[in-house]
Amino acid sequence: MDFQSRAKVTALGAYIPEKKLTNHNLEKMVDTSDEWIIQRTGIKERRISDDTEFTSDLAYKAIEDLVERFSVTIDDIDLIIVATITPDYRTPSVSAVIQGRMNLPETVGVLDLNAACAGFVYALQVANGMITTGQSQKVLVVSVEELSKITDYTDRDTCVLFGDGAGAALVEYNQKTTGFLGTYYGSDGKSGNKLYCTGLSDQFGPEKVDRKNYLFQDGRAVYNFAIKTIPRGIKALLEKSDMTIDHIDWFVPHSANLRMIHSICDKIGISREKALTSLEYFGNTSSATIPLALWLALKDDRLKRGDKLLLYGFGGGLTHAGVIIEW
Ligand code: ACO
Repeated sequence: MDFQSRAKVTALGAYIPEKKLTNHNLEKMVDTSDEWIIQRTGIKERRISDDTEFTSDLAYKAIEDLVERFSVTIDDIDLIIVATITPDYRTPSVSAVIQGRMNLPETVGVLDLNAACAGFVYALQVANGMITTGQSQKVLVVSVEELSKITDYTDRDTCVLFGDGAGAALVEYNQKTTGFLGTYYGSDGKSGNKLYCTGLSDQFGPEKVDRKNYLFQDGRAVYNFAIKTIPRGIKALLEKSDMTIDHIDWFVPHSANLRMIHSICDKIGISREKALTSLEYFGNTSSATIPLALWLALKDDRLKRGDKLLLYGFGGGLTHAGVIIEW
């Protein structure tokens, strides 16, 4: 890394809605099968928020879980960064809604970040930069999505993939330890039309103008982007960090598709068993898949203090970003 990080991830939390949507439920909604979904994606079920539960509600519950699980105080945080593509409102931001709901002082900065499935990693990078350059001391990062609210449940290409969930991380100043060992990012904006949500402009999909606020993707194109670009990005990240893949205890890629993750593991030379995932029971929750995978590994004691983790997110944009952190 070009500078010595002074930031460390000190706590994690998560929340997933109660309601399950299984592959068998989906068989009754569109022309699909449990067998197809598991074989092509690895997903068995996903969680769906109810009509009155919004992104900031999920975020708030993930923060509550973090506070309880790690017995930390967060009254003294100075910045909230929320990564999401499904904010409650266009404005105010989810981070502002949370600051208000938590009664935090007006000296707290708030910022939402849209990097789709790479959002958690980008948000960690921003937190690391803010802390290491002395602008912040204690940053709350939340990745949270309600993809069910922008999913067309008549479109089998997308509705079998997505789910809702939230993950939160506390990033703190630490003079003694270097918590961030390397960072890397990139993008391919020219391929933005391969994965998008309809909005104000309809240039990506004029034929879909009557279906505003839905996700569309060319699954095969995104798949090919991931299995080509991500191994290259990981190699660059390791080189930049003066590390090799053998230094990594856990690989935590964006949990979109198990076949894609296995292909990436094989290409970068890490055992498939060292990949932490969350897609099996939560589906693709975009920016939340990585913290949810960490949270699952924390809960069943796979994750140990001192473990070196390589996190790599990729998705809409098209964006991608990686960090190596010591837990
Ligand atoms: N059930 C049954 N059949 C289906 C379904 C379904 N749900 N969806 C598609 N099919 C059919 C297709 O119609 C096609 O049929 P055909 O051969 O008769 O034409 C066949 O299955 C194969 O379709 P493909 O799209 O080629 O299937 P593929 O093996 O590529 O799998 C998938 C599709 C799972 C979407 C895969 O491409 C993928 O995971 N892509 C990456 C998605 C991703 O990672 N998105 C990331 C970011 S998300 C974000 O940023 C918000």
